[in-house]
Amino acid sequence: MDRRQLLKQGTMAAAAFAFSRDLFAREVERNFIAPDIIADVIKLSSNENPHGPSPKARKAMMEMVNRSNRYPWEITTQLREKIAAKYDLTKDHITVGAGSSELLGVVSLMAALQKGNAVAPDPTFRLWMPAARNVGLPIKLVPLTESKETDLQRMKDSMDSDTKMVYICNPGNPTSNIIPANELELFIKDIAPKCIILLDEAYTEFSDEPTMAKLVNDYPNLVIAKTFSKIYGMAGARAGFALAHPTTIQKMNSLQPWANAGISSVTLAGAIASLDDQEFVTHCKKENEKAKNIFYAALNKAGMPYLQSHTSFVYFNTAPFGKDVRKLLEENNIIGCRTFEDGSTWRRLSIGTTEEMKKVAEALTA
Ligand SMILES: Cc1ncc(COP(=O)(O)O)c(C=O)c1O
Repeated sequence: MDRRQLLKQGTMAAAAFAFSRDLFAREVERNFIAPDIIADVIKLSSNENPHGPSPKARKAMMEMVNRSNRYPWEITTQLREKIAAKYDLTKDHITVGAGSSELLGVVSLMAALQKGNAVAPDPTFRLWMPAARNVGLPIKLVPLTESKETDLQRMKDSMDSDTKMVYICNPGNPTSNIIPANELELFIKDIAPKCIILLDEAYTEFSDEPTMAKLVNDYPNLVIAKTFSKIYGMAGARAGFALAHPTTIQKMNSLQPWANAGISSVTLAGAIASLDDQEFVTHCKKENEKAKNIFYAALNKAGMPYLQSHTSFVYFNTAPFGKDVRKLLEENNIIGCRTFEDGSTWRRLSIGTTEEMKKVAEALTA
């Protein structure tokens, strides 16, 4: 083989390597390959908690494996009672599912059965939307304000006599903005007499704003969806819950083939133990803030504006950076920089550990 052939082969091999690495990163991102088994890939795509599950939850889950030959009735009730105590409600105000996504699906099915439409901000958390549309619930999407806040007034204006559900995610995803509690409360009081309000509080624990749980007794149309996937670090274990008036919980349960049976006993044990581990929650919140500050400093240095985050992710504008941020991060084995608005320069990145965010910062500011 002469030198030219050798060079050509070398270039082709390099291109194939770059291509396969890119492909590999995308495969990892789509969860076809577990990222944890690849030591040098930092996965920042799905707002998972990089610290969890809590040590207490791990222990409880391992112990429960031995008892997982039994159906989980008693332990489900225990979890519902524990959640109820935390939010000053009764177990009849609580239903659980395999992740809050399951319950977002149940509530949209409940709305679809009323034959009408739903109103939701855009962009927002969209996972539940295709199934909702497929069961007959068209969704009117309402753009955020110019400063990327949920436009409550415009959402109200978009409602018509056929609107059966309004979806709000607070703090918002992908923006991580928060609607102040007093404004949200007024909105709920205004809308709840008219239709279902599905309030997704997946990230409230990362913020300093309160849950709206205290309103569920007075407003049967209000359903609050919450999850063990974020602050409790159990995304893969699949556990979520909804808080609502008991009559609404009963309606939701009637739409589940086997109500309150979605979570395995192993996961239920972990969820119960998580609720007992406030120390771990405080630790995760603090670490998230520290890691976020590292990322903010890097964004400031790189000249990229961002929204103040009330969650475990940051929404930032890559326009002034001049380079393709996603590509740059992927070249540094950091995956998950995603866009949620067609043609936009805004991107979302989940917050990892402080060590991981230092690597992000190095990649962006080198
Ligand atoms: C706003 C929001 N709601 C719900 C979910 C789904 O959570 P779960 O894992 O409980 O299904 C997510 C997951 O990213 C989310 O961001």
